[in-house]
Amino acid sequence: MATLNANFLKLKAGYLFPEIARRVRTYSEAKPELAARIIRCGIGDVTEPLPTAAIRAMHAAVDELACRETFKGYGPEQGYEFLRQAIVDNQFAGLGIAADEVFISDGSKCDTGNILDIFGKGNIIAITDPVYPVYVDTNVMAGNTGDADARGAFGGLLYLPCNAANGFVADVPQAHADIIYLCFPNNPTGAVATRGQLEAWVAYARANDAIILFDAAYEAFIQDPAIPRSIFEIEGARDCAIEFRSFSKNGGFTGVRCAYVVMPKSVTASDGMGGRVPLHQLWSRRHSTKFNGASYPVQMAAAAIFSDDGKAQVAALIDHYMGNAKLLREACASAGLPVYGGVNAPYVWVGCPAGLSSWDMFDKMLSEAQVVITPGSGFGSAGEGYFRISSFNSRANVEEVCRRLPALVG
Ligand code: MLT
Repeated sequence: MATLNANFLKLKAGYLFPEIARRVRTYSEAKPELAARIIRCGIGDVTEPLPTAAIRAMHAAVDELACRETFKGYGPEQGYEFLRQAIVDNQFAGLGIAADEVFISDGSKCDTGNILDIFGKGNIIAITDPVYPVYVDTNVMAGNTGDADARGAFGGLLYLPCNAANGFVADVPQAHADIIYLCFPNNPTGAVATRGQLEAWVAYARANDAIILFDAAYEAFIQDPAIPRSIFEIEGARDCAIEFRSFSKNGGFTGVRCAYVVMPKSVTASDGMGGRVPLHQLWSRRHSTKFNGASYPVQMAAAAIFSDDGKAQVAALIDHYMGNAKLLREACASAGLPVYGGVNAPYVWVGCPAGLSSWDMFDKMLSEAQVVITPGSGFGSAGEGYFRISSFNSRANVEEVCRRLPALVG
């Protein structure tokens, strides 16, 4: 008799964004006359076309595949050298990262979930609350948690509350953790961590023999030059951190799919028998066993992001989305709502009007203004009472959301 992975049965609801899409679909079917008015500021999905440099490179790569002399089949599982080196030169110069410590993939969502393959059972996992739900759900699937309680918190996880009092940046806990997920700029709150805060986390990880899983998918949105863009800017992080980066939000690759993991060879973990093993070796083995590499045209397009033209076009995209974030921040603030994030991140994190829960606010925004947001409680119980607005949209749509907001909240 085949049995299933019973850990999946602990997951109470569907994944957050499909659930939102389902509710929007139900609403559109019930109110077809309003369906065309719906503006989606829920999932952080880019709306603007790919940078021209990436499009040109992708076309050229397809032409290479069309010709016997330049045709390519399987590429290296870890990614083509040209892209790994371009990443090191452009994103990690001076930080001691080598090209063979970069592993190209098809997305950070997959990477942050797949990374659990190389860790043992029984690790104490620290997770911020609110949090990108993938970190929690993949730990549930992997059997690293107990059941959820009435508030949706899973037994066995060490939750680190993030709230207005700590600026939505988790304090280093008193308790011990073995693996810590950090995401800066943060999804969903848009908070960023200062150098001092990241230093405290690296010191904690080293003192606890723990590993930081640092999700920097939104690094390109940092505007303040004092905010670190990589955990590897912090002394000592090369021994205790793994970083996740993506082309989804800077290059607009959400549909193209390309990301990478930076895994220094100096990060080791216990083999449970008194020895230490570099995790690089395990991740490389995992990658070559379970993955055949991102496609050649996609990797060529990703490398083109680092050309002079590509950099300028990405900067223009970031400016566009951050201009949207500013408008959304201002509109929510002038409607009298508490506003966070949206300054070094594409997400604006907003307190709900008094008396409304996150899902109440979701329903109100959808039914009264036809605007889709993400309810804060979908990111964890500490997100209750907040909602997230994504600035990934056209300027016209964002201006329209700003026009609709005051009537709704006032
Ligand atoms: C989000 O809206 O939180 C992101 O789009 C999710 C993701 O990148 O997977």
